[in-house]
Amino acid sequence: MPSTGASPRYRLIEIHRPLPADYATNHVANFGIEMSCIHNVFIRALNSLWVNAPLVNPADELGFAGYASTFCEILHFHHHGEEDIIFPFLEKQVSMQENVAQHAAMLAGLDAFAEYMQNVANGSEKYDGLRVKGLIEIFGDVLTDHLHAEIPTLSPENLAKFDYKELSDMVAQHNKHIQDMPGKFTIFPLVATHHPWNEIPEWPADMPGPVKFFIKYITPLRYPSYWKFAPFNGRGQPQPAYSP
Ligand SMILES: [Fe+2]
Repeated sequence: MPSTGASPRYRLIEIHRPLPADYATNHVANFGIEMSCIHNVFIRALNSLWVNAPLVNPADELGFAGYASTFCEILHFHHHGEEDIIFPFLEKQVSMQENVAQHAAMLAGLDAFAEYMQNVANGSEKYDGLRVKGLIEIFGDVLTDHLHAEIPTLSPENLAKFDYKELSDMVAQHNKHIQDMPGKFTIFPLVATHHPWNEIPEWPADMPGPVKFFIKYITPLRYPSYWKFAPFNGRGQPQPAYSP
């Protein structure tokens, strides 16, 4: 079953087209859509990990462990960016306590999954696909529910309550957090290979063209053994389902 099939284990967030006319320039209009797109990157990866875990050929175990470890890393960076930059800003007008509690609720399960995949990567534990699937089951629903629940807090109605200059400054600070992330050849290609560029080429609104080109076309070249499990190539074309 391909992870991009009609009924994935973890449901994607709906993104309505056409995007707002001022999507490229107005953070009130675009910030919730920006977040929906990156959350869908995580949900697509979660589906791909869940579907492929029991299928992994011994020759691909290290690649799969690298893919899974990258997924855990990007989720941690994303949540740190939210807790350090986005949530404290939003808290001035909107209660974010539930979102913080949701982060905490899935942390132990995510960490157990990350630890096992790192042990597989460093050879200290043997790969067991059913164990991987079981570890995902522990946090997958809680994570997906949180990724959905956060989006309404970023609605244009909520964001319009803020001073626009302060909102823009917060977005700029968060963009800097993303640019400074380590793992240019792990985290960035995970994003590139889990976004439908053909359907939503406008995303992300603030990214200069040359940077987007680098992420889509160059970064996936370094660790192809990871991205064979991804639903898309870096240009948004669906990849065939992984077959051992
Ligand atoms: Fe988020």
